[in-house]
Amino acid sequence: MCGIVGYVGSKPALDVVMNGLRRLEYRGYDSAGVAVVSEGKLATRKRAGKLANLEAALGEQPLPASSTGMGHTRWATHGAPNDRNAHPHLDDTGSVAVIHNGIIENFATLRAELEARGHELVSETDTEVVAHLLADEFDGQQEDGGEADLAEALRRVCSRLDGAFTLVATHGSAPDVVVAARRNSPLVVGRGDGENFLASDVAAFIEYTRNAVEVADGQVVELRPEGITMTDFDGNEVQPKEYHVDWDASAAEKGGYPYFMLKEIAEQPRSVADTLLGRIDDTGRLALDEVRLSEEDLREVDKVIVIACGSSYHAGLIAKYAIEHWTRLPVEVEVASEFRYRDPIIDRSTLVVAISQSGESMDTLMAVRHAREQKARVIAICNTNGSTIPRESDAVLYTHAGPEVGVAATKTFLTQLVACYLLGLFLAQVRGTKFADEVQAIVRELAAMPDAVDDVLDTVEPVRELARSLADAKAVLFLGRHVGYPVALEGALKLKELAYMHAEAFAAGELKHGPIALIEDGLPVVVVVPSPRGRSVIHQKIVSNIQEVRARGARTIVIAEEGDEAVTPYADTVIRTPRTATLLAPLVATVPLQVFACELALARGLDVDQPRNLAKSVTVE
Ligand code: F6R
Repeated sequence: MCGIVGYVGSKPALDVVMNGLRRLEYRGYDSAGVAVVSEGKLATRKRAGKLANLEAALGEQPLPASSTGMGHTRWATHGAPNDRNAHPHLDDTGSVAVIHNGIIENFATLRAELEARGHELVSETDTEVVAHLLADEFDGQQEDGGEADLAEALRRVCSRLDGAFTLVATHGSAPDVVVAARRNSPLVVGRGDGENFLASDVAAFIEYTRNAVEVADGQVVELRPEGITMTDFDGNEVQPKEYHVDWDASAAEKGGYPYFMLKEIAEQPRSVADTLLGRIDDTGRLALDEVRLSEEDLREVDKVIVIACGSSYHAGLIAKYAIEHWTRLPVEVEVASEFRYRDPIIDRSTLVVAISQSGESMDTLMAVRHAREQKARVIAICNTNGSTIPRESDAVLYTHAGPEVGVAATKTFLTQLVACYLLGLFLAQVRGTKFADEVQAIVRELAAMPDAVDDVLDTVEPVRELARSLADAKAVLFLGRHVGYPVALEGALKLKELAYMHAEAFAAGELKHGPIALIEDGLPVVVVVPSPRGRSVIHQKIVSNIQEVRARGARTIVIAEEGDEAVTPYADTVIRTPRTATLLAPLVATVPLQVFACELALARGLDVDQPRNLAKSVTVE
């Protein structure tokens, strides 16, 4: 949540910062602002609303040329999304500018203390206190006759703050310095040649450098054109940990599509294929080298708990069916924000799987920490190299979806499913609950999934037409059984977040226990039907459920595999998916639902990349 960019070097800082903010706008778009240091002074502009408003303001009132600057795009926590609460925030004298991602929990106490000392705070944010505290520290150093050191001043301020933050600051009298501190919110440094960058996400500086440096929790960074200095909050120098980003700027651009989401839906065959790449050895065995847990550790596991939020949680629900079936281990799936508050039963033999595309969701991170405190082994499934959740886990299985800019998860969701399947099969292989040839047969089916997803994408035009015809619908219900139930949940979530439409998903068997009362004439009901091959009982039951809702006037939209003619008489519309193994079917069944939600939202004139009130990376609890 909130996007942060900082730059020092020889380029025009404002250009670099604005380019970075454009790539980070998915992290929050309630307001945006920039600050540059020029001729011993700070100059700032900020505006409520999307980045375009800030661009217009900069057009009307340009900032002076500068090669030191920072910028912020906000997802509001404290204070309404207006100009005044937009970042950067300044101290009384306008000499320090601060931008912030996170929440300063003790800001009210600090604000009262500052006001008692005569400071005038003008915003409703928690961030503004930091600018005032920092100015006091910096001025104090000068008054003591020492050389003022912005990084040292920031370290001292950090020791007074409770809560989670990434803070970035500049000072008018420190022209070639940007400082930043991190506690429980994302921050990464980009190392250039005679220039350096920092941001919430590598996407912000990927067009300038692919050399990144990790910033761990409790560290302060001082960025100068000639180098980067990193310390802990006590001032002890720490060695930077460098890594190379393996995708380039074009991956974070729209590539001819009007929206990132459309591009990301279309990229799914490639993303699924990339996530499988290198994970199957020549003999057909799974080789998950990055799962740093020993085979012995994995054999000791007696329970799996999946923790995640939103779409990642839905991936976890699907994983439960597969992992339990293949390994015979009990699998619990829990919304991360509830997990640690219910005193869950976990110990050394529990394997906790934390699914998070961003690797930064605060709810999931806190659940990971709780699990590790209880000695559980934690494996992360994540799409973001170097992010916090994988760093704090015992092992990580990266998905290779590439950057996902659209706020709604699409390709990251499908690749999370692939990673969950790989993990389930790996556990089965290691624990011997499936014979090698059985694992290999499923792996072969998985390897065919990129083509199957491609086939779905080739045939989704009727789904688009259907979505457009339903642009004025008041609500849509989704039903599913078995793995189709979490797919239905995901379809409903996509429709809520993109089209702002009331959408609910139910396990089809639950219908008769209450939700059937919602059915009325013309209500669209999407039913995700499992394959009639394999689990024919479930199939028969869901065909009955379709008849039940149709008899009560519902307009039935049925997602069923090719050749499943049993649904045809009861479906107003049938959306066909390729034949696949039952457990892998979510990989194809989810795609039409993504397209449906996206197209319906577009038909309503909405921005599918930046739905209202949302942010891509949710770094507050
Ligand atoms: C929905 C969506 C969110 C995320 C959720 C978890 O389209 O994107 O529900 O799935 O916020 O995010 P991560 O996976 O980054 O932990």
